[in-house]
Amino acid sequence: MTQPSPVPDHPQQDDPEKLAAFEAKIAAGDRIEAGEWMPQQYRFECLRLIQMHANSELMGALPEREWIPRAPTLARKMALVAKVQDEVGHAQLLYRVAEDLGKPRAQMLEDLLSGKSKFHNVFHYPVPTWADVPVIQVFVDGAAMQTQGALRSCSYAPYARVLKRICYEEDFHIRLGIDVYRALAEGTPTQRAMLQDAVDRWWQPIMHFFGPRDQASPHLETMMRWRIKVKTNDELRQQFLRQFVPFITDYGLRLPDPNLKWNEAEQRYDHSEPDWDEFKRVIRGEGPKTAARLQLRNDYWQRHHWVREAMTAWGRAA
Ligand SMILES: [Fe+2]
Ligand SMILES: [Fe+2]
Repeated sequence: MTQPSPVPDHPQQDDPEKLAAFEAKIAAGDRIEAGEWMPQQYRFECLRLIQMHANSELMGALPEREWIPRAPTLARKMALVAKVQDEVGHAQLLYRVAEDLGKPRAQMLEDLLSGKSKFHNVFHYPVPTWADVPVIQVFVDGAAMQTQGALRSCSYAPYARVLKRICYEEDFHIRLGIDVYRALAEGTPTQRAMLQDAVDRWWQPIMHFFGPRDQASPHLETMMRWRIKVKTNDELRQQFLRQFVPFITDYGLRLPDPNLKWNEAEQRYDHSEPDWDEFKRVIRGEGPKTAARLQLRNDYWQRHHWVREAMTAWGRAA
């Protein structure tokens, strides 16, 4: 494993010749491996992206975890346990990829636990009913699948490789969610009302998930040229809407946004503008469940201290 130098707070100027060779390589469609030379900004942006993804997988296991003890049948419980384990496994894979970019895994976990680093907005919200589980599995995993699916063709090879495995499992999570979703949608009036309520509550966070509307900027242009970003926020949001709005309409549920409708002339969905102030508050760490989820993660970190100590001692003895 290579140990590149840590990301500096103030990136220095890159060697112009190496930078030109890097740009040519990316323009030719090649990928960059962990040990290869890369611009400081490329390393910084890849690390930021992958660390945020890893944090989100780890924190994203917590909302659905709340329903493991209350799943309505043994089969649903077993499937949910497996799904939650997958998400923690995704975090493990991603922290491994991220640490090769120069930041120790322990530091990444410390930054997450202290609230210094971020995780995706959707995992800061409560899950008050069983219907929240399929809505997360279909729509939240479905939203994540748009970004992660696109990034399978990103230029950083270790991330692109690990995303293939992750997307394979995410696709299965969506299928699992559809089965629960269908059971509720075709169930009693109470079950349908519970599902409608969950769709309504989750809609805005899901629209937020893709980020604000595209605005041309030198930063976005660089991210796209370097293929750290493959599709824009609006492209991904529209791709999601095309794929997932039918899950609402086909089951006769009410659209959660009265302005959500297909625009035939522009071949895109029109929709209300989400409240971006709420999005900013949530990703700042002021979401309705941010403090409780971080507290839970911290409690387990303390409680499992003995496991880390035992593994370290075993590693020394081996
Ligand atoms: Fe995942
Ligand atoms: Fe998932």
